Amino acid sequence: MQTVYLNGEFLPAEEARIPVLDRGFIFGDGVYEVIPSYSGRPFRLKQHLLRLDNSLSAIKLANPLTIARWSALVRRIVGLHPWQDQAIYLQVTRGVAKRDHAFPSTTVPTVFMMASQLSPPDRTLVSRGCACVSAIDNRWLRCDIKSTSLLGSVLMRQRAAEAGCLECIMFRDGYLSEASSSNVFVVHRGVISTPPNNHLVLPGTTSDVVMELARIAKIALVRREVSLDEVRAADEIWVTSATKEVLAVTRLDGKPVGKGKPGPVFKRIYALYQSYKRNVMRKS
Ligand code: PDD
Repeated sequence: MQTVYLNGEFLPAEEARIPVLDRGFIFGDGVYEVIPSYSGRPFRLKQHLLRLDNSLSAIKLANPLTIARWSALVRRIVGLHPWQDQAIYLQVTRGVAKRDHAFPSTTVPTVFMMASQLSPPDRTLVSRGCACVSAIDNRWLRCDIKSTSLLGSVLMRQRAAEAGCLECIMFRDGYLSEASSSNVFVVHRGVISTPPNNHLVLPGTTSDVVMELARIAKIALVRREVSLDEVRAADEIWVTSATKEVLAVTRLDGKPVGKGKPGPVFKRIYALYQSYKRNVMRKS
């Protein structure tokens, strides 16, 4: 049975109800997080909750809960489910109000949380890599906000799915932004590059881990604008996200990336990521 959290109570998913005038439903007026949990322990919880706080500030919605309360609720919902690895989805919307684009004068936010089973990419996917398509990034200009208004990303991800691919890697004005639900890294002659954090990309929690690991392992990494041509000529491309961890992209638009196999820098970072995960889980 799946138990969800809605506005102060835990209840079976089938019993949870949200009024039709909730601004999350009417306008997509809300923000969310997806937090992985391994062996009962939420991973990078503080970083996810800080990003949630940033998203809420950006949409001028006061955080309805303290970080301590959020942490307790996340741990509680993890404890209510049997799966070893879980993805905790949480969402805050601007609540229920008469339909008007402008904010209501008083807001009681809707707070929702659910857990689902998480299956990190399996061995085959990790050892073979995944295929991606590319597209022009036609989303809005505040991609740094983890907004529930996801139609742009939904259409991109669908484009990838229809091509039998895992992700859609996007370009704005000829430069790499991110993928429909991941950040993107490229490697040229051993040097990792990834776009800087700005309004065009979500500051990824997983990409932060990858960058920290590269720094510790003294693998050269630069944050810079990466052109479409550079992506096409890359030796390696990776995507990162809380649910995909770090995954090599071995085909882009039907053509092999580099040698068409996960490259040596990916293998190094992947191994470091897994050992970091194990260490964090042991300690927390
Ligand atoms: N998406 N960029 C976009 C547009 C994303 O939607 C995501 C994550 C990321 C990676 O962020 P993180 O490493 O913190 O997961 C980058 C989540 C997983 C989702 O929407 O399901």
